Amino acid sequence: MASQVLVAANRGPLSYALAPDGALSARRGGGGLVSGLSAALAQQPGAVWICAALSDADREAVRRGVAEPGVRMLDIDPEVYDDAYNGIANSVLWFLHHHLYEIPREPVFDAEFRRRWQSYVTYNEAFAAALAEEAAEGAAVLIQDYHLALAPGMLRELRPDLRIGHFTHTPWASPEFMEMLPEDIRSQLVWGMLGADRLGFHTWRWSAHFITGAESDDARGIATPSVQSGTPRGVSHRRTAADASGYGPALFTEVTPYPLGVDADELRGLAHRPEVDAKLAALRAEVGGLKTIVRVDRTELSKNILRGLLAYRELLTTHPEWRGRVVHLASAYPSRQDLTVYREYTRAVADLADQVNAEFGTPGWQPVLVSVEDDFARSLAAYRLADVALVNPVRDGMNLVAKEIPVVSEAGCVLVLSTGAGAYEELGADALTVNPYDVTATAEALHAALSMPDAERADRTKRLAASATALPPAQWLTAQLDALRG
Ligand code: G6P
Repeated sequence: MASQVLVAANRGPLSYALAPDGALSARRGGGGLVSGLSAALAQQPGAVWICAALSDADREAVRRGVAEPGVRMLDIDPEVYDDAYNGIANSVLWFLHHHLYEIPREPVFDAEFRRRWQSYVTYNEAFAAALAEEAAEGAAVLIQDYHLALAPGMLRELRPDLRIGHFTHTPWASPEFMEMLPEDIRSQLVWGMLGADRLGFHTWRWSAHFITGAESDDARGIATPSVQSGTPRGVSHRRTAADASGYGPALFTEVTPYPLGVDADELRGLAHRPEVDAKLAALRAEVGGLKTIVRVDRTELSKNILRGLLAYRELLTTHPEWRGRVVHLASAYPSRQDLTVYREYTRAVADLADQVNAEFGTPGWQPVLVSVEDDFARSLAAYRLADVALVNPVRDGMNLVAKEIPVVSEAGCVLVLSTGAGAYEELGADALTVNPYDVTATAEALHAALSMPDAERADRTKRLAASATALPPAQWLTAQLDALRG
């Protein structure tokens, strides 16, 4: 039956594992997008989530027809998928939006890039076709993230009756970074996005980057978009008519921030399950009553884990009074290990943590405890125990960890927060904020955080938790659906 509400995202709510005996088992997908959307969609009966099969096990699940109700996994050719996901989405678009390139060497836009780009186009077409097939007349469609930047324009061509939204969970590249892309590619990206009726970002900052980027973009053969900066904010645009008779109708794409937050009741419920209590008891035994600095991330270049460890090392050097009195719990679970640069980064994080332990550790004290397990229960236990939360990404769409820790922490925790995180817009006032490149300032912020009086810490945590829960996932989704339906 055709659906009235559809979402499309590369990663689905579940992924499968294939046992040697051929049995398939399902587990929850990782990352902020999946946790936010899963909670929100649970409250939309009849909704369909279209996602890609990510692995051979997922593809096997599609072939056996075992997918959950409300989920449609697309079995995209594995080579096309690899080019689109690893080759373009994670190696080009992710790097642009997070400003991660090491400029003397990258990016390189050559024939190989063009070949991969064609796969990215094919991958987006597969999603657009599936959405067109599953959507009821006039349905609301919410397309997610940089993997699917072309799909809104493609879907608009196939199904002009639909209400199309797109939400970006990452930052949007500043116009200078967007201008690195070859002009025709940038034009495809911008026009793909402008196929949506509405575009959503986590913050004003990322919305403004999209709008100013679109304005400065003189898209070839297509009328230049013009920006509306009053209310509503957005981009007016018109395409050349197919028969070259002039311009098509003027269209307007509204651009709005929807800062995704966390659901306090749900999160606290999850954090007090017996499984988490048990992990907490084990962690307490390991930490032995010392103060804790907690971080939880995918091992992700943009999360700035190395500078976080350097700051901790500087703290122990310039404030030796903390030696033997604090433990840094760093959970950095592997991510995107198909990419060499991520494998190298993962190794560098482990090496640096070892160095800090070798330099300062004593028989009775291990300064850093690294965990590489993707273990949500253990993360929640660490949240409960946190005295200080370290969230120092160089650039991040939102960063839900910054919002989750204050909600769950038991004795209140001080948030050391990068100005590059989307969460800075809402949480900056009650956090200790740092320039993510400034290791010395981060070390001093850690010192101030560890030294903060209990009462001030508790007050700040209360305000942080209130801001963090202002727009929980279900409301975040409903607000977008309501706006789409006008
Ligand atoms: C970020 C992206 C998501 C992505 C997640 C995990 O949060 O915005 O779209 O799902 O990272 O990354 P992965 O590549 O493992 O899906």
